[in-house]
Amino acid sequence: MNILVTGGAGFIGSNHVRYLLDHTQDRVVNLDLLTYAGNLENLAGCEDDPRYRFVRGDIRDRELLRSLLQRESIDAVVHFAAESHVDRSVEGPEVFVTTNVLGTEILLEEARAAQVGRFVMVSTDEVYGSLGSEGFFTEESPLAPNSPYAASKAAADLLCRAFFKTFGFPVIVTRCSNNYGPYQFPEKLIPLMIANALEGKPLPVYGDGLQVRDWLYVEDHCRAIDLALRKGRPGAVYNVGGGNEQRNLDLVRMLLDRLGKGPELITFVQDRPGHDRRYAIDASHIRAELGWAPTVDFAAGLARTIDWYLANRAWWEKIRSGEYTAYYEKMYGAGGRHGGDAG
Ligand code: NAD
Ligand code: DAU
Repeated sequence: MNILVTGGAGFIGSNHVRYLLDHTQDRVVNLDLLTYAGNLENLAGCEDDPRYRFVRGDIRDRELLRSLLQRESIDAVVHFAAESHVDRSVEGPEVFVTTNVLGTEILLEEARAAQVGRFVMVSTDEVYGSLGSEGFFTEESPLAPNSPYAASKAAADLLCRAFFKTFGFPVIVTRCSNNYGPYQFPEKLIPLMIANALEGKPLPVYGDGLQVRDWLYVEDHCRAIDLALRKGRPGAVYNVGGGNEQRNLDLVRMLLDRLGKGPELITFVQDRPGHDRRYAIDASHIRAELGWAPTVDFAAGLARTIDWYLANRAWWEKIRSGEYTAYYEKMYGAGGRHGGDAG
């Protein structure tokens, strides 16, 4: 197959490109705009593979999509490209709508016109909103997104449903919980906390730190997406999750422990507005229908992730020395949304 991966220079997308090159015979065309979150260093080594091609471009660029889909004889699309950070969506929702909603709609239209045979939409569990202390998200749970990011993903997710129902376009949707692993941009909880701890900076925990996330190692997510691409039922939605609930504060303490740092670095800061309390996935549908199960247990995955950030210090130090500095100051510095005392 010739597979178009959108957003393949980001965290999960770059892991997915590597997954495809390592585990399949397929050709991979990676379309990525290289926003602040896209980084070609995430794909070091892939350029040497004759089955891989990178194209810098925007999923909102209809003409580009039209010629690319035709020129590369694309059989399948795996759609990651998005604005992905909840805190940034609180600061500026507009680009979340233009990229995540309009971008997905344009991509769907062009893929349909090019008669692409399979389209996987990488959605998120955040479309379901927040859980109380009991229960799990199933594919039947109502969509109740709480952040502009989650709302934009829910809109894109439902456009996929509409393209299947209205046009019979073979879209498959995955809704996964929080991923962790190599190449995650250090604005997200785990890499941010590792980098801050290694630099002896405060670790900004939002609110009481008792929010719960269901963590999945990124490669397990990639395998679920690939199974959905090859064996998923068109029109189906598959929840993907690790069955691995952790409270933020416990996770931060675990990281400090493994890095040999003390808890005095933990700093409670102002909460995220509209902060979802708990995510937990019921993944029984994908387990039963596609035979998927997570393979990396949390202790091993976290150790692997920490080792990667230790061994690739230059990767995240370079990121944190650029425009990231202004972002960090705006979010965490004096007068910033999260606080005052974490910067
Ligand atoms: P990321 O922010 O690390 O990467 C996003 C990539 O998309 C970047 O390379 C960026 O340059 C690219 N991009 C942004 N706008 C674009 C545009 N207009 N045209 C082309 N490329 C563009 O994100 P991530 O964490 O890797 O998430 C990837 C996808 O998976 C997203 O759709 C996200 O909603 C979804 N998801 C993420 C998680 C998670 O835990 N990170 C969990 C479930 C689902
Ligand atoms: O559930 C899937 C989603 O997971 C994806 O759709 C999103 O793209 C991805 O960013 C992630 O969203 P979260 O908001 O859950 O991830 P984040 O890493 O931003 O935060 C995880 C938890 O940690 C959340 O409860 C907020 C908290 N947090 C985060 C940061 C950055 C802190 O306490 N302090 C922080 O500095």
